[in-house]
Amino acid sequence: MLFDTHAHYDDAAFDTDRDALLEALPASGVGLVIDPGCDVKSSERALMLAAQWPHVYAAVGIHPEELGGMAEGDLERIEALCTQDKCVAIGEIGLDYYWDDTRKEEQKALFIRQIELALQKELPVIVHDREAHGDCLDIVRRYRELRGVFHCYSGSAEMAEELLRRGWYLGFDGPVTYKNARKTLEVLAVCPLDRLLIETDSPYLSPVPQRGKRNDSRNLSYIVERIAEIKGCSSQEVEAAALKNGRRLFKI
Ligand code: NI
Repeated sequence: MLFDTHAHYDDAAFDTDRDALLEALPASGVGLVIDPGCDVKSSERALMLAAQWPHVYAAVGIHPEELGGMAEGDLERIEALCTQDKCVAIGEIGLDYYWDDTRKEEQKALFIRQIELALQKELPVIVHDREAHGDCLDIVRRYRELRGVFHCYSGSAEMAEELLRRGWYLGFDGPVTYKNARKTLEVLAVCPLDRLLIETDSPYLSPVPQRGKRNDSRNLSYIVERIAEIKGCSSQEVEAAALKNGRRLFKI
């Protein structure tokens, strides 16, 4: 069974066929999905999808890109949502200096407040780290008890080793299938099978040979095949390990 630990089915890209697509996933081998929220509204939609579909779970949180659109009381609403049924993590949260590097301190403060919420509620976190590796590592280092995944991991192998030592999981997505994936290959070399998660980040980041098209969880098999090829094991081993890891981290 494939477990897509990161897919945004609440996204408008799925408005025309969301129900049909989600209904078809188990028969196509995808038996579990986590839909992470990016703001209050998408977190609410993720929880609604989780309530509707037995194989869908949700995470709630405010993505660093949504910082500018935040309203008074949003964090309190995330706090109320995270205790709802089938909410398995706080996410996606983190730092994104690619998108905007002018409000770093505000991004960090938002990240820290949500990490502290996760610790208080004993939930793992789903971290978005884009071109902010040093600051992300610096922040998560302060919280020894904190667990979670660096989603679509894009840092160095050296940083990966430190995160793994600290008990973190690493998420791998469509980019493992891209030609310029050299750094990801180095990371996969240091990441043991029992610490990786497989994700699509649908509707984004479609793997080869679907690159450029809307992504969905059925494309997870291309990511699994490529990881298996790199690690020198079978696709079944990668699939089984990722399922076990996802169940362990998110307590599903
Ligand atoms: Ni995402």
